Amino acid sequence: MQFDQDLALQELFAFLRMPSVSADSAYKAGMEQAAAFLQNKLQALGFAARIDPTDGHPVVYAERLTAPGKPTVMIYGHYDVQPEAPLEEWKTPPFEPTVVDGRIYARGSTDDKGQLYAHVKGIETLLQQQGELPVNIKILFEGEEEIGSPNLAKYLEANKDNLKADVILISDGSRFSEDVPSITYGLRGLSYIEVHVQGANRDLHSGAYGGAVPNPINALCEIVAQLKDDKGRVTIPGFYDGVQELTPEERDMWAGLPFDQEKWGLSIGIDQFPGEEGYTVLERIWARPTLDVNGIWGGYQGEGSKTVIAAKAGAKISMRLVPGQDPKRITELALKHIPTLAPEGTQVEAVEHHGGDPFVVDLNSPYVKAANRALQKVYNRDAVFIRTGGSIPIAATFTRIVGAPILFVDMGLDIDAPHSPNESFAVQDYLNGILTSAYVLDELGKL
Ligand code: BES
Ligand code: MN
Ligand code: MN
Repeated sequence: MQFDQDLALQELFAFLRMPSVSADSAYKAGMEQAAAFLQNKLQALGFAARIDPTDGHPVVYAERLTAPGKPTVMIYGHYDVQPEAPLEEWKTPPFEPTVVDGRIYARGSTDDKGQLYAHVKGIETLLQQQGELPVNIKILFEGEEEIGSPNLAKYLEANKDNLKADVILISDGSRFSEDVPSITYGLRGLSYIEVHVQGANRDLHSGAYGGAVPNPINALCEIVAQLKDDKGRVTIPGFYDGVQELTPEERDMWAGLPFDQEKWGLSIGIDQFPGEEGYTVLERIWARPTLDVNGIWGGYQGEGSKTVIAAKAGAKISMRLVPGQDPKRITELALKHIPTLAPEGTQVEAVEHHGGDPFVVDLNSPYVKAANRALQKVYNRDAVFIRTGGSIPIAATFTRIVGAPILFVDMGLDIDAPHSPNESFAVQDYLNGILTSAYVLDELGKL
């Protein structure tokens, strides 16, 4: 499989320059630009491509059904990206892709524009090499993944008759490691909530009142400290009910993976690994539920000091879930439990944000075997089977409506730093991603 590498890079750079931040309405033009860019490119590749409005950001939908008797592959990706903040921590501008030491630095480079565009170029490569596609292809690129896909379920329901396919191909996560290709067979689910703590009716002088009044920030810290016990387990009653335990086979398989815990820690500057007792790092990330504060506020944050007891404080909390846990139920449990922890004199309220179902796919499918054959061609070795700790909230709904299993063939790496400042995607991973896409589609065409 051959393609023009320089052109592939230039096109991706143009796409990355479009600031498609779904969370912030100031970027609406960037969202529209990115959607139009994809529609134009797919039309140029002979797809019937549309921009379908939703109540939020539009869906780019395209199809090219020119392989009668062959499987239909639905390719999913998202063209929206996380906000670039904190801007001052970026070494190169987030929306001006810059190659340094073989890596493309830009917001969305790995999550998910780079991986999404590798599929577009993989399709183009097949068309150039073979004149026609080996499978029928439907493409759905959404613009709201990073905000929890609030409008996609409705879109899918409304269009379900046209979305049927045999398999869904998604590249929106990380491979196992630099030289080890992988097929991802599970995602964690998500329940995301926010906690608000109120004390007095105004900020108070911490000398005039301190010691005799409720302090919402102290209270919030007490609440958060109680949400996990000393064994690293979440204390919300009922949280673990129904959690599917790892099988011995799965634990053995993961124990056999070439995972270098120390090196993994060094890549993020840690050498201690706190977590739930009785589980390895990979088990904790891939198969155990957890709870983390993602943001916390209250009181004075400016330069110097200010002696003040804030009237309110708050926190944003994510709970990552595993098969057997229902995000709706977990959210309810948390919303009910957290206010019962309110220290004396504080009012505590917890509110729901968004969620997503946990997900595992069957490894014994011809699609997985086909993907492995494709990965062998690119990496000269067998793929390993992994899960991931991240979430793609729409995955469970998508698989139901499309009526097909998902094949997760990831191209990026966790060290690409998705969601962080200085997100990047290795040039080689992008080029291999294009090959991977072309070979996977080619192998699927042989089924
Ligand atoms: N691509 C990620 C999901 C992911 C992350 C897979 C890490 C594998 C490893 C996706 O774009 C994402 O960030 N999902 C969010 C969902 C949230 C915004 C509702 C997540 O997992 O936090
Ligand atoms: Mn993503
Ligand atoms: Mn993401």
